[in-house]
Amino acid sequence: MKSAPDSTPPHLAALLGQSVAHIDTPALVVDLDAMERNLRKMADYAKAHGVKLRPHAKMHKSAALSRRQMQAGATGMCVQKTSEAEALAASGVNDLYISNEVIAPAKLQRVAALARTLKSRGGRLAIAVDHLQGIAALARALGTDENLIDVFVELDVGQKRCGVAEPADVLPLAQAISRHTSLRLAGLQAYNGRAQHLRTVAERRAALDEVIARVRETRRIVEAAGIQLPLVTGAGSGTFGLEAGSGVFGELQAGSYLFMDADYARNQADPAQPAFEHALFVKTQVMSVSKSHVVVDAGHKSHAIESGLPRVHGEALEATGCSDEHTTLRATGSAPLPALGATLWLIPGHCDPTVNLHDWMIGVRGGLPAGTVAELIRVDARGCLD
Ligand SMILES: Cc1ncc(COP(=O)(O)O)c(C=O)c1O
Repeated sequence: MKSAPDSTPPHLAALLGQSVAHIDTPALVVDLDAMERNLRKMADYAKAHGVKLRPHAKMHKSAALSRRQMQAGATGMCVQKTSEAEALAASGVNDLYISNEVIAPAKLQRVAALARTLKSRGGRLAIAVDHLQGIAALARALGTDENLIDVFVELDVGQKRCGVAEPADVLPLAQAISRHTSLRLAGLQAYNGRAQHLRTVAERRAALDEVIARVRETRRIVEAAGIQLPLVTGAGSGTFGLEAGSGVFGELQAGSYLFMDADYARNQADPAQPAFEHALFVKTQVMSVSKSHVVVDAGHKSHAIESGLPRVHGEALEATGCSDEHTTLRATGSAPLPALGATLWLIPGHCDPTVNLHDWMIGVRGGLPAGTVAELIRVDARGCLD
């Protein structure tokens, strides 16, 4: 059992070593045994397929979990925000990739400061760009120091989010990066978030065929101009097996695999990649009963619902409504509804924004109903949105 960090609120610290029954509700609970099986499976998979793993820490926002993933072989962590990078760096994570564009000059000053700090510790900061102005602003913030930061050019590979629109648009950006001494052209960012949640294997494969073709075309154009793209990075928990087997992606950024949410569970399983277990739950209690339904004490201030309502772990119950502090559940079969005071375990619809609602995750060993609280995990980058 780990000891509680100094900053742990006393009521949480008192839980260490106690049975799961002592956890008050609502609470965010991690099944550490399931999480570690997921962690190991992904690390082994990346190793066996000869690709690097840089898991996305936007999901758990935790330095302790980042360190655990890196100890298992991850080369570093992805984050989405400057402040997430700062929070993880402050807790000792030294290899970070902001897989996102940063434009504001004040924020780029922070990026520059962090790049220097990480370099001085023997670590590294990387960042994504998708515009010449962004490259110029980044270079201005970094000054003339040599080789301070790794830069990936982002290509839109079907999500219609960030990234240059066409493979040919990557070349002028790659050339511009190469002209600045402080920047090192690290490669290409090619992530299609929409493809992760396409429900059938056939749909996801079709989307990834497109992604991979665009990456190949980009490589051809950029290399024909005499510039190398050392690494192609991307992939999420829905498609990483396709990127890993593509022969063009060198790094996987999947994040959700560690916890697995109800939305991902709706994907048809792809035999080309390992399956993961649910490891993140909201412990909740039935606070009101009626003939037709029960109400539990965790609403969408406890679990995010923008990707769908939660599932109820191991019970023939479905969520039919949710408000700030309440979720309504109805029976899906003939079993009686749970009694007033009963404990239930919700599997959140979407893990990333669920974690961001909590300061702490309670780590349990030995299973949910019968296990013991073994660890308290701080959500270090909670609320780090800038
Ligand atoms: C750029 C980027 N890479 C990787 C991921 C990880 O995806 P997932 O958590 O679905 O595995 C995300 C998630 O949104 C992302 O935005």
